[in-house]
Amino acid sequence: MQNVKLELKFSRILEKNIMKYANQVVEIHEDLHKKVNDKNEFLGWLELPTKYDKKEVEKIKKAAKKIQSDSEILVVIGIGGSYLGARAVIEALTHTFYNYLPNEQRKTPQILYVGNNLNPEYINDLIELIGNRDLSINVISKSGTTTEPAIAFRIFRELIENKYGLEEAQKRIYVTTDKKKGALKQIADKEKYTTFVIPDNVGGRYSVLTAVGLLPIATAGIDIDKLLEGARFAQGKYLDKNLKYNDCYKYAVARNILYEQDKNIEILVSYEPKLHYMIEWWKQLYGESEGKDKKGIYPTGAEFTTDLHSLGQYIQDGRRNLFETIINIEEYNSNIKVNQDEDNLDELNYLANKGLDYINKKAMEGTIEAHVEGGVPNIIINMDKLNEYTLGHLIYFFELACAMSGRILGINPFDQPGVEKYKTNMFILLGKPGYSKPKASVKIEETEKKSVTKPKSQRGRKKKVE
Ligand code: PA5
Repeated sequence: MQNVKLELKFSRILEKNIMKYANQVVEIHEDLHKKVNDKNEFLGWLELPTKYDKKEVEKIKKAAKKIQSDSEILVVIGIGGSYLGARAVIEALTHTFYNYLPNEQRKTPQILYVGNNLNPEYINDLIELIGNRDLSINVISKSGTTTEPAIAFRIFRELIENKYGLEEAQKRIYVTTDKKKGALKQIADKEKYTTFVIPDNVGGRYSVLTAVGLLPIATAGIDIDKLLEGARFAQGKYLDKNLKYNDCYKYAVARNILYEQDKNIEILVSYEPKLHYMIEWWKQLYGESEGKDKKGIYPTGAEFTTDLHSLGQYIQDGRRNLFETIINIEEYNSNIKVNQDEDNLDELNYLANKGLDYINKKAMEGTIEAHVEGGVPNIIINMDKLNEYTLGHLIYFFELACAMSGRILGINPFDQPGVEKYKTNMFILLGKPGYSKPKASVKIEETEKKSVTKPKSQRGRKKKVE
């Protein structure tokens, strides 16, 4: 069976130090599972792989088939947790150039995203790219009131209604939102759009394994049963509250130990360009869950070997407040060899007959060694292969580890109060009804200049009087 395994030997963390957290982990584990059905706790994702409504899964598959049969493009409208998971899985499991492939080769619709920014050029360019081609829309918003997707939906709803007329447009708009609340739910009810429900107790960034992620993922031709099966396997595996045998909780503990050592930036690294959006999804999951109360590891990402020629210098030699978590895919789905060349002017014959899988692995091993030697601990997550099953497992692994890690840190990993601040300011500036101007405009003061520490060589020397 294909698996996901944690390797801590390059993390410079001793097993005995991990095990110091054993009791705390049991307490948190029990608390999480005890509250899984509590409506106010947002813990529904814990049991989604085993408990997700089977009828909803069938409805998702049916809708995906219809979109595949009548649309060349699916426009996915959503932001944050209502968009990143779908994109992460689709990009990880389809052809690297999926959206660029000719239709006959791709066979399933192009998946294009909007409502994840407010940029007019992005939207105009997307409309131009769509041109006269057939499309459907999946608008996703749990609250149903988020500004970015709401604006995009207004624009694309008008576009699709003008193109097909009201009756046909109604059959091409799919809404994923709350069961009862929000403006989007009201619109969906009024217009009788096909609607999918985001369960009450599943927050945005933990929702990829609901219709939020599953409808676009299925439309791209990915086997959502296998994705859920992988997640189900992980759910069973990480029910073990004994830290000694639970890789997921060990990852959560290792991050906290490193954080205690002032390693407050975690770089999620992959040698697989297809994981670019998995890294983005992970950044959102961890950033929005843990960055609170002036605490938390700053989650960032890098793609190697690409970024070894940019961030690599900093990682090797810059401030030592970093650690890396590497997603290592053991076996690639395809390979290509370096051939022998008679002239060997590029001096690459030493690699003749070697596959790029081998070369990429050696780059990884060399980099891990260099970075660890340079003072950057490395945590490794080994995945046998990249497919629906292992990715489902990895998603569950990261979600559960995030909850555990956040609770060890002492914050609530399921809210995001900080996100409201920019929204309030933006609404005031835009004159949204109900939002009034602040009494005095915000004064941005220059940060007080701190005395810069002089280099050792200059310390203690008196200034020469001219
Ligand atoms: O994880 C979260 O809760 C957020 O990132 C939300 O997903 C994001 O803000 C979008 O919210 P909504 O789905 O309500 O439009």
